[in-house]
Amino acid sequence: MTETTKTRFTPRIFSGIQPSGGLTLGNYLGALKRFAALQGGEAETIYCLVDLHAITVWQEPETLRLNIREAAAAFMAAGVDPAQSVLFNQSQVSAHAEMGWLFNTVARVGWMYRMTQFKDKAGKNTENVSLGLLAYPALMAADILTYQATAVPVGEDQKQHLELTRDIAAKFNHDYGVEQFPITEPLIEGVATRVMSLRDGSKKMSKSDPSDASRINLTDSADAIAQKIRKARTDADPLPGTTDGLKDRPEARNLVNIYAALADQTPDQVLSQFEGQGFGAFKPALADLAVTSLEPITKRMNDFMADPAEIDRILGKGAIRADEIATPILERTKEIMGLLRTRP
Ligand code: TYM
Repeated sequence: MTETTKTRFTPRIFSGIQPSGGLTLGNYLGALKRFAALQGGEAETIYCLVDLHAITVWQEPETLRLNIREAAAAFMAAGVDPAQSVLFNQSQVSAHAEMGWLFNTVARVGWMYRMTQFKDKAGKNTENVSLGLLAYPALMAADILTYQATAVPVGEDQKQHLELTRDIAAKFNHDYGVEQFPITEPLIEGVATRVMSLRDGSKKMSKSDPSDASRINLTDSADAIAQKIRKARTDADPLPGTTDGLKDRPEARNLVNIYAALADQTPDQVLSQFEGQGFGAFKPALADLAVTSLEPITKRMNDFMADPAEIDRILGKGAIRADEIATPILERTKEIMGLLRTRP
């Protein structure tokens, strides 16, 4: 963290997840589990279901509404406590969209075209995707900087977006000669910052992968989880005694990392336990661990989903609290930019 950021800004953690369909074990280990662990520390924690991001690609309105509630249930089931953290959906706090517009005037088009996530999602179709998909990282910077957040826990795949957030903050501060925005620190920590597909160790586990067997969904049954792990692609060698031996074995490394993250161990600890054993022994152990870790979460998710009115109430209350933090920062930003503020 830069010195100015450390001294000028109150420690505040912000992160978000797109509510665009079922969440995966990657979301849980790379994000949700860590969101819960960061609560109760020195920094205030603000967690957001980024529904305005989700609509950069087509979402069926009824399904989206359901997915927002389901993602909120997943946050809480994973341990995000609305009494300790601000939990809300983005579209209920208009400061995000407004700050996003202000940042559209700060960010450069070239920065957006360089985003690998945009290139991946747009493919050869760059002329036909929504303008929102291109501008997406400016809205993400707005999510973070509207709270002057100093730290953002995310998985590895969001690193480039966070670098862009820092560039936007620095450019704004420089252009207007102010210290309005912190240079936010990415928190990409632990062994599960990049959980890979169960079918292909070179690809990230993702909710948008066409193969359901490639991922574990937080809504999967115990049987489905066990079966997906049993069928996960691996190699024929026994497990080595240390992580050095996993260097050229991406699938094996992925399963060991998943085990370590679920068990709160280091990969070396896991390997010292399984050294010399093949996947015939390791996979059932991993399946057991995954089922015992995820079953209570799925159950709690279902309990929350049984009372959607309560979820709506929690998100509404969270939005009011988020608004209280965001609005003065947005107002000050507009003032800095010379936008006339005269409303009584
Ligand atoms: P999203 O919705 O794709 O993913 C949510 C979080 O889950 C992490 N993640 C993973 N971590 C490890 N292994 C995986 N296979 C894996 N898949 C996903 C992501 O890194 C992320 O932390 N642009 C963001 C959402 C966003 C945001 C923000 C995040 C919008 N505004 C502000 C932080 C701060 C996204 O699409 O995440």
